[in-house]
Amino acid sequence: MKIIIANWKANPSSLPEAQDLFRATVIKAEQCREVETVVCPPFVYLEELAKWLFANFSSPPLALGVQDIWESAGPFTGEISPEMARNLGAQYVLVGHSDRRYILGEDDVRINKKVLAALRIGLTPVLFVGEKERGGDDDQENLIVNQLLQDLADVGPARMAKVLVCYEPVWAISTSPGSHPDTPANALKAAETIRRTLLKYWNIASARVLYGGSVSADNITRFLEHPEINGAVVGGASLRAEAFGHILKLSSQL
Ligand code: PGA
Repeated sequence: MKIIIANWKANPSSLPEAQDLFRATVIKAEQCREVETVVCPPFVYLEELAKWLFANFSSPPLALGVQDIWESAGPFTGEISPEMARNLGAQYVLVGHSDRRYILGEDDVRINKKVLAALRIGLTPVLFVGEKERGGDDDQENLIVNQLLQDLADVGPARMAKVLVCYEPVWAISTSPGSHPDTPANALKAAETIRRTLLKYWNIASARVLYGGSVSADNITRFLEHPEINGAVVGGASLRAEAFGHILKLSSQL
């Protein structure tokens, strides 16, 4: 089953808008139960959205995730602990998104701590890897392998089976200047690098690898028709329930 993860980032700007978008997204997800849908709203909306979801569905058509966590509870002003996220109903957490790496200065040591914290508390980490600039083949491969080795350090093989890895080249993200989606061929090459690395260092033969970067209804099939790509992370298009529903529908047909 393919998995589609909506990353709302810092949108929308009010709770009523978030509720409208969420309810419309849930209806779309309900029509596409053959695809695993995850929505990662901003923290401030999580509680309300979770309450509504669990009050209305004994078997919800989508799961909730958060866009970040800190390493633990304690003296960390402004942060959210993994326990808080889980106790509100989140099952997934995005870790190492390029917004956090390059705009908010998060390094691989910090990302690794977050992956370990997520696994410890039972959240499924979605680790983002990918090059910043469109570069040569070696650059891409070396960077991905290095990110995986550093970000997943000390994750044992048993827990590694839970980790999802998303290849998301920064230049392909819809808000990057001059962005355009990656080619399926390049995404497949990156997916192969990820699989090879997880097999070599963790003995994981069935890693789940996603693609992210300007995913839309126009291009989703070209990525997901390959069994090597298990799903996608969707940013901009997840803010429009109609467009996101279309992506879910196409994904559920594969
Ligand atoms: P995009 O964002 O789909 O708008 O390119 C994806 C992401 O940044 O996760």
